[in-house]
Amino acid sequence: MEDRLREMAEAARTALREAASLDELDQARARYLGRSGVLRDIQQGIRDLAKELRPQVGQLINQTRAELERILEERRQELEAGQAHLRVARDSIDVTLPGRSQPVAGRHPLLATLDDMLEIFLGLGYTIAEGPEVEDNYYGFEALNYPPDHPAMDEQMTFYIADDVLLRSQTSPVQIRVMETQEPPVRVVVPGRCFRRDTVDATHSHTFHQLEGLCVDEGVTFADLKGTLLAFARGMFGPEARVRFRPDFFPFTEPSAEFAVSCFACAGEGCRVCQGSGWMELGGAGMVDPNVLAGVGYDTERYTGFAFGVGIERFAMNRYGIPDMRLLYSGDMRMLRQF
Ligand code: PHE
Repeated sequence: MEDRLREMAEAARTALREAASLDELDQARARYLGRSGVLRDIQQGIRDLAKELRPQVGQLINQTRAELERILEERRQELEAGQAHLRVARDSIDVTLPGRSQPVAGRHPLLATLDDMLEIFLGLGYTIAEGPEVEDNYYGFEALNYPPDHPAMDEQMTFYIADDVLLRSQTSPVQIRVMETQEPPVRVVVPGRCFRRDTVDATHSHTFHQLEGLCVDEGVTFADLKGTLLAFARGMFGPEARVRFRPDFFPFTEPSAEFAVSCFACAGEGCRVCQGSGWMELGGAGMVDPNVLAGVGYDTERYTGFAFGVGIERFAMNRYGIPDMRLLYSGDMRMLRQF
């Protein structure tokens, strides 16, 4: 019996000392020191011993239990310290580590251009208005003084969703919506997406962006239009910028003009950016046709107004030297990261 006790004690010491985790330690404790453990089993064998041997063996068993319990406690402390160490390592923040870098979004060149444009007009006292991208024939064309057979209304140029439902081909319909809800004076700029059945290439897209401007008040003249667009050009390109107006035609303005700004890259000398012309065409403009004003119920004897529309894509491409319009819609990070 004493041999058995000695063997068991040896095995128990090893198991307790070498327990690799608190779980393993607890298993070893149960096996050797537990209620139905080996030590208890041996202890029960005392009954079979001769009476005079019992006290001696009992004492031996108690010593062994005390020794094993000490080892158990030592090992438990070691393991707990180790775990605490691990926990500290896991939970603490190492302030000396470099931070995890967050991906930084940049402004899309189209949006950056638009923001700069809006900034200038806000400074001139304009407010921003918006309108739907899906329009009907009335807002899309009729209220803008298009004759019923105008080619812009043709399915070859405009996307139709249904007979009388179309994707706006310009931001001008918003002129009507603004004037319907507001009496003069009106000073709004309208950024927005437009759609035309253009074949996609380096300078065309079926979806593009415009900034519309509308100013209606008493005594508004073409000189105000020129002054406004000159202020816009100078705001965008600096005090040396000049603007050029050439006769054009739009159903909703009379007279109408196309306007251009002196090339920002060569100041009008002629270069690659402006294809040698010295000018960059920005858009269309004109005095709001009295038919349009009358259509929204404005007193055409009292009020006059001007309107203009600027294409944002070409502007952004010239400004940032982007050679192909498709890059603007690609979402290609190699391109976008440059801005
Ligand atoms: N809507 C015209 C276009 O898309 C531009 C324009 C706007 C012209 C306002 C005159 C007045 O070409």
